[in-house]
Amino acid sequence: MNVLICYFSGTGNTHRVAQRFAECFVAAGHQAEMLRLDETATEKSLPDNLLQKIQQCDLLGIGYPVYAFNAPPILLHFAKKLPKITQKKHTFLFNTSGEPLKLNNISSLKLSGMLRRRRFDVTNEYHYCMPYNILFRHSDEMAHKMWQTACNLIPLDTAQIVNGEKHLLKRVFAGGALAWAMRCEQWGGRLNGRMYRVSKECINCYKCVNDCPTHNITVNKKGKLHFGGKCLMCMRCAHLCPKNAIKIGLFNKWKVNGAYSFDEPTTKSGQRYNKMLTKAYDRYFEEAQRRTSSLRQVGDNPNTKPTAFN
Ligand SMILES: Cc1cc2nc3c(=O)[nH]c(=O)nc-3n(C[C@H](O)[C@H](O)[C@H](O)COP(=O)(O)O)c2cc1C
Repeated sequence: MNVLICYFSGTGNTHRVAQRFAECFVAAGHQAEMLRLDETATEKSLPDNLLQKIQQCDLLGIGYPVYAFNAPPILLHFAKKLPKITQKKHTFLFNTSGEPLKLNNISSLKLSGMLRRRRFDVTNEYHYCMPYNILFRHSDEMAHKMWQTACNLIPLDTAQIVNGEKHLLKRVFAGGALAWAMRCEQWGGRLNGRMYRVSKECINCYKCVNDCPTHNITVNKKGKLHFGGKCLMCMRCAHLCPKNAIKIGLFNKWKVNGAYSFDEPTTKSGQRYNKMLTKAYDRYFEEAQRRTSSLRQVGDNPNTKPTAFN
């Protein structure tokens, strides 16, 4: 089987998960190709080579980080530009989010509807908890535990897809209306993006300029950074800034700077995940543990080291 995995990742979490999926499909004897959707963010139509790959693959995987209980606009933009295909295409979705609340399951409602209308047959959906890139920083232990959990679950989920076992995420009551209301985050993000500023710590390395998926950060004649109105709120600029020099407007208190290592930390911080959601995190890990201990896995090494993100 020829698998194409198209995904967007703001700060690397979804990239890791996409890579683990690719690795598991290959371990199960299939071909897998990964394609980042950054380039499609500003294009009016999808590039011919991408459309060709989508047409030719036997199975399409689509991955994204959850933003305010929705798929990021770049994914909706991508789905909108997909043509209606003649023959149904077997499709699976996966997403990552900072908390394990079932509410995150509504994030795929609009996206999967758009895909189905174009005859992409979404039969499988998966959610993985990965550390927050906004709101608060998870401890290194927690980031490691989340990643190990995803590494252990993905081989099982790959096996389900390969064996043709349907798996759709359970929706919450009135999920569609809630997801619709939360999509105000998208224009709020664009407005807030104009309020981004750099502090004096900025060394003009222009990493943020080069990394921004929508080319929203430009350099003016005086060499100063300018933030435009196309911000996706993906956090890549602020999260990966080597000098922690980017202020993210109204949400600056929630900024999380510095990539997570995901390696097992040598010292324990003892930090609880988040007082409010402790039970939800516990439930997520228990459920994952229950599944991984009772089923045989397709993939092999849970200590997979993905290629660097940016
Ligand atoms: C603007 C924004 C909104 C977010 N909203 C949610 C949310 O509604 N629920 C959640 O659990 N995590 C939320 N997160 C956290 C991310 O989904 C999570 O950290 C994800 O793994 C990031 O993936 P990435 O590194 O591939 O970008 C949000 C992050 C951002 C930047």
